[in-house]
Amino acid sequence: MENFTFCSPTKIIFGKDAELKVGEELKSYNCKVLLHYGGGSIKKSGLYDRVKASLNENGIDYTELGGVQPNPRLSLVHKGIEICKKENIGLVLAVGGGSVIDSSKAIALGTLYDKDVWNFYDGTDVPTKCLPVATILTIPAAGSESSPSTVITNEEKALKYGLTTQLVRPAFSILNPELMYTLPKYQIACGAADILAHLCERYFTNSKGVSLNDRLLEATMKETIIAADKIINGEPEYSDWATLVWCSTMAHNNILGVGRIQDWGSHAIEHEVSAIYDIAHGAGLAIVMPSWMDYVKNNDISRFAKFAVNVMNVDNNFFNQSETADMGIKAFRGFMQSIGLPTTLKDAGIPKDRIEEMSIKCFRDGNRKVGQFVNLTQQAVKEILENCAE
Ligand code: NZQ
Ligand code: ZN
Repeated sequence: MENFTFCSPTKIIFGKDAELKVGEELKSYNCKVLLHYGGGSIKKSGLYDRVKASLNENGIDYTELGGVQPNPRLSLVHKGIEICKKENIGLVLAVGGGSVIDSSKAIALGTLYDKDVWNFYDGTDVPTKCLPVATILTIPAAGSESSPSTVITNEEKALKYGLTTQLVRPAFSILNPELMYTLPKYQIACGAADILAHLCERYFTNSKGVSLNDRLLEATMKETIIAADKIINGEPEYSDWATLVWCSTMAHNNILGVGRIQDWGSHAIEHEVSAIYDIAHGAGLAIVMPSWMDYVKNNDISRFAKFAVNVMNVDNNFFNQSETADMGIKAFRGFMQSIGLPTTLKDAGIPKDRIEEMSIKCFRDGNRKVGQFVNLTQQAVKEILENCAE
């Protein structure tokens, strides 16, 4: 097990009607709040009215900014920063999914900075201060509700860059599984793919002596698959939604990732795909991740066989290790298809002609490595994308 420091200070308020506590929870911050949200789902569901009522009842002064798009854009972040500076905002309240939360984190960073917040994303500068962020989550997916990360799209440059800093971990996050009931099935599937990818990025490691977290990761992957399948293809109960929501948070607050070197190659590749083609992050991962698995499996075939048996329920009594590993990857890809996700670029309507460009951009002019389970070359990234083209 590798040395580690773990601190996830986000207070989690979980359960039915939890969003009604938001006003009371915000009182102790004693500041004006920016209420930040997306394209309208919270208005349609009635959540917007309930949140506003709770703020009003508790005397919380606020202003609002909606319009966050999936793959959140830098231009709206700039607008949010301007509002926060002008109106002396002290906390950003994100009501929505990963995109709204990531946009809120960017606004919170940029409000206390006098240059362009993009500097933090492209590595020109390192943040030292951030306004507190709080969240009311509406989709189990990105895990941003307790992660130290934010991912923003610079639409002018067609770049999608992530930033990780402990400064952006939310102060508190409200998770009411019932708020997810209005999600379209496709979004639930994209969310499940992202949760599984966060677990896989941690699971596939070369670190030794990490069996406890191996088992916890396997359990969380299995529960994600069972819950997502029931929600999308069956007749879900509250507990299925509650499980999926908790898997989302557990998958990415890094409690399951400590003590091991993590991979993150699939995420790096996927971000290049969604930066150009603006597809849902989870859909991109459903395409890239199985192809990545095929490419890297021989680095540790026994780990892939273990994944096949312990997560994908492959019966290893009849097969050798390599066949078992292959069946696990096949079952993983099959699961993505069973919940309605694309598993090739073609399925998602993405042509092959910019694969070379994506494989080059992924390395940011040689300024970063792609993948730590297997350190990928540009040629490798290109092959992974070509292998899932159609
Ligand atoms: O905008 P609205 O109208 O709210 O609609 C959203 C959006 O269209 C809709 N939605 C959300 N909750 C709903 C709902 N519709 C009906 N009922 C509800 N309860 O779902 C759509 C997708 O929302 P989005 O926030 O984009 O989804 P997600 O949570 O998957 O976030 C994706 C973003 O997070 C980034 C991704 O790259 C992507 O940009 N990630 C952030 C991470 C982090 N900060 O730690 C880690 C991840 O790996 C990921 O990269
Ligand atoms: Zn992700």
